[in-house]
Amino acid sequence: MKKLLVLSVLGLASVLCAADGAKLYGAKCAECHGIDGKEASISGKAIAGGSGALAKLTGYKKGTFGGDQKALMQGTVTALSDSELSTIATYVDSLK
Ligand code: HEC
Repeated sequence: MKKLLVLSVLGLASVLCAADGAKLYGAKCAECHGIDGKEASISGKAIAGGSGALAKLTGYKKGTFGGDQKALMQGTVTALSDSELSTIATYVDSLK
């Protein structure tokens, strides 16, 4: 019985996490990348359909990843915690 409870709590947590990712993305990223990640006019390419978003976001934060326009990303990612970035990255990787 206890196990069942733990499992359902974990299930609920992952649902909440996915919802958080979408919410954070909508608030922090959609203005430039579009609500579906397909907007390419600002960043030069769509982020939907990609993978490894966490490594890229962490790289922007540390200054080890990025192109000519990385300053635009750095402003956004440095204001977010590592756990928020990880939640957002999971959401971004799920965009097709
Ligand atoms: C102010 C506009 C702006 C905002 C807000 C923004 N981005 Fe970006 N994003 C850019 C630009 C411009 C680039 C290209 C930067 C470069 O030259 O490396 C980029 C690049 C990226 C890339 C790398 C694409 C690749 O494969 O090279 C990812 C992933 C990304 N953004 C995700 C996000 C996420 C997630 C958020 C929200 C936390 C976000 N961006 C918020 C403008 C923005």
